[in-house]
Amino acid sequence: MSGVNEIRSTFLDYFRKNGHEVVSSSPLVPRNDPTLMFTNAGMVQFKNVFTGLEKRPYTTATTAQKCVRAGGKHNDLDNVGYTARHHTFFEMLGNFSFGDYFKANAIELAWNLITKEFGLDAKRLLVTVYHTDDEAFDLWKKIAGLSDDRIIRIPTSDNFWAMGDTGPCGPCSEIFYDHGDHIWGGPPGSPEEDGDRFIEIWNLVFMQYEQVTKEERIDLPRPSIDTGMGLERVAAVLQGQHDNYDIDLFRALISASEEATGIKAEGEHRGSHRVIADHLRSSAFLIADGVLPSNEGRGYVLRRIMRRAMRHAQLLGARDPLLWKLLPALIQQMGRAYPELVRAESLISETLKLEENRFRKTLERGLSLLSDATNTLHKGDMLDGETAFKLYDTYGFPLDLTQDALRAREIGVDISGFTDAMQRQKAEARSHWAGSGDKATETIWFELREKHGATEFLGYDTETAEGVVQAIVRDGKAVDSVSAGEQVQVVVNQTPFYGESGGQIGDTGVISTDNGKLNVSDTQKKGEGLFVHIATVSEGTLKVGDAVALTVDHVRRSRLRSNHSATHLLHEALREVLGTHVAQKGSLVAPERLRFDVSHPKPMSAEELQTVEDMANAIILQNAPVTTRLMSVDDAIAEGAMALFGEKYGDEVRVVAMGKALEGPKAGKPYSVELCGGTHVNATGDIGLVRVLGESAVGAGVRRVEAVTGEAARAYLAEQDERVKTLAGALKVQPAELVSRVEALIDERRKLEKELADAKRRLAMGGGQGGSAGDFKEIGGIKFMGKALNGIDAKDLKGLADEGKASLGSGVVTLIGVSDDGKASAVVAVTPDLVDRFSAVDLVRIASVALGGKGGGGRPDMAQAGGPDGAKASEALDAVAAALGA
Ligand code: ALA
Repeated sequence: MSGVNEIRSTFLDYFRKNGHEVVSSSPLVPRNDPTLMFTNAGMVQFKNVFTGLEKRPYTTATTAQKCVRAGGKHNDLDNVGYTARHHTFFEMLGNFSFGDYFKANAIELAWNLITKEFGLDAKRLLVTVYHTDDEAFDLWKKIAGLSDDRIIRIPTSDNFWAMGDTGPCGPCSEIFYDHGDHIWGGPPGSPEEDGDRFIEIWNLVFMQYEQVTKEERIDLPRPSIDTGMGLERVAAVLQGQHDNYDIDLFRALISASEEATGIKAEGEHRGSHRVIADHLRSSAFLIADGVLPSNEGRGYVLRRIMRRAMRHAQLLGARDPLLWKLLPALIQQMGRAYPELVRAESLISETLKLEENRFRKTLERGLSLLSDATNTLHKGDMLDGETAFKLYDTYGFPLDLTQDALRAREIGVDISGFTDAMQRQKAEARSHWAGSGDKATETIWFELREKHGATEFLGYDTETAEGVVQAIVRDGKAVDSVSAGEQVQVVVNQTPFYGESGGQIGDTGVISTDNGKLNVSDTQKKGEGLFVHIATVSEGTLKVGDAVALTVDHVRRSRLRSNHSATHLLHEALREVLGTHVAQKGSLVAPERLRFDVSHPKPMSAEELQTVEDMANAIILQNAPVTTRLMSVDDAIAEGAMALFGEKYGDEVRVVAMGKALEGPKAGKPYSVELCGGTHVNATGDIGLVRVLGESAVGAGVRRVEAVTGEAARAYLAEQDERVKTLAGALKVQPAELVSRVEALIDERRKLEKELADAKRRLAMGGGQGGSAGDFKEIGGIKFMGKALNGIDAKDLKGLADEGKASLGSGVVTLIGVSDDGKASAVVAVTPDLVDRFSAVDLVRIASVALGGKGGGGRPDMAQAGGPDGAKASEALDAVAAALGA
């Protein structure tokens, strides 16, 4: 008999042959629906195609869709393990018509598949129709030749299918398989219908309506078809089994857990093995689709599923974490059809291990508390809410786990007592933050956080999603609606927008509804878990409760990803080049560039920077995948992840690894491993190129490296290139000759400067204007040279004064340089034989006073001074001459 994998492909091939497009399963986290927790049917990805909002290049399709029914409208969690057919995860096979064929073809296609392709015995089949649907009744009669008693009219919602409270819906017709009279039960609609003999295998929904709100239902643009066949159920029928858990796929998973625990899946342990097999599937697929265990939203549903399985692992006596050991068996069964399992294998494995390790620490103590609290209780009694809350709060027991643990003894849990205890604790937490300093101004965010829970961040996997507006804040106050022109802060239940953190700045983009549009200029995190979109309403209005489409600016986000990943590569390269003392001191990841501050005591050399850049680019060229895993801080650090000293991390951390080290002690291991919550490229090649712009000092022992990547790096290099070309053009050489040409020019210029200076000096000493006393004279037997020189730099005066002294042999030289802006500098030089009689310092001060200055300084044989008034140069020379004669 066919295995699950063959049945899946037979189904898809059959509809392909009948003109249907084979479409891949969509992720378990629906992107196109804000109200749905998990994808729970094949039609979810086509919701907007049914309503006409979205167009696809085909009008008929077929899928094998992964579904989770845990949390939300369709929730099967509590039943799994106790029944033959409940699953939290299952595959739904379906065919769809978007305004193409309708009832007649749908019935014909279905009937032919199950009776001809699958070869089911028509005598074992019967169908239901919605009680008013005469058309379907007649078609079944005509096409399948079923007698009237095997076409059962059902008046209840069982035969009216809806995805959720809103969305496409319509009457449906279900196909049942009769497992035989050895099993108790009656046909649908009979008093014995809850028995297990007649099992629904396929639901054909005649999609006709759209439930817009709870009250309003409208017609779809064109009647359509949505069908759903549970793969596990039909596999059971085709494999001659009554119980889904006896099909090949589950047998393989259950034998893996039998082997790992040494406990046979019989008697009291049967349920535990089933729970583990089922929950392993939902956990693995959810993690592969980006959900990670948390205390909020989808992550909490996942945690509940995982912990329920983990308690059953404990019931089977497993001493160490069990679930991750079964993952290879699951991948063996399902990895071909769902390659995401293979891709995410290490993330799934680490996450399962981490959660089980963590939960084990409190599981035994919690269970012993539970058994103490219930040992006097009997069948029909209730466990008090306080104890249930303590188990939840202190031991991490989700409420349904406590219920599950007591179920076999038929003991209930006081839910309202549990809720009261929870409320009390929240009130206490509130009183704690409400009055505390800085946080008081942020009170509104804590209130919103408490009311709505944390925002679910979808942005690791998607840049577009739908969400429901939970709050709008304007001028610091919550409001119900806003309109065009207003500046607002918006909180949505889930978002792909990244809130600024870890150096990466917040996303920008657009939030839109049917009635309005907002431009998001920034996203910030507030109140410990809220993502706040800072936006301006550009069109229409926005109300609390609106369903919105959120679209991140893709180009900008891609640049942010590149710059963030490049920062990790540079960090590692800096450590390799400069040493392991290099630690991150600050980081800015912006779309146009990145800035990275590290501890390093001295400037980096050009060669060091070049080596860092080369190393980072080598990893970019590897185009190696960037992987993310969730683990405990200790494990992450043991794996060599770089953690920031003094940074506060949660219990679980995201660990981002990229590239492969080719040499050194890490050879073969990831090149860079860091704890990081940011968004990253999928493969290092996506960065394109990193170009370090330079480094500078930002404080004692801290250096700043700036760089650009991708398009910005290319633009930067193009600009540099353009400059080189312009220069080469101006100098009339080839770019390659530029350096030697410029060096030659510099040499030439130096030579010319020197020649010019010499010429000026010669000119100055040869001529120039003297004071009224002339350039040379003798005053009381002392030779005096006095010159005022225009256009000679102060720095050249001393050299000239030395020359003057040499030419006098014995005497006093006074030179006044007058600069172009009219200021004067004076130098007085006294030959050694005269220093006993005249001090150059005293004489220069006299000159300085005449020049309007305030004295000067130097040695007795050479002193210098300045003054603002160059026009008084002659007076100054005269004053010095006069002093010599005094
Ligand atoms: N959407 C229908 C179901 O889930 C086919 O049963």
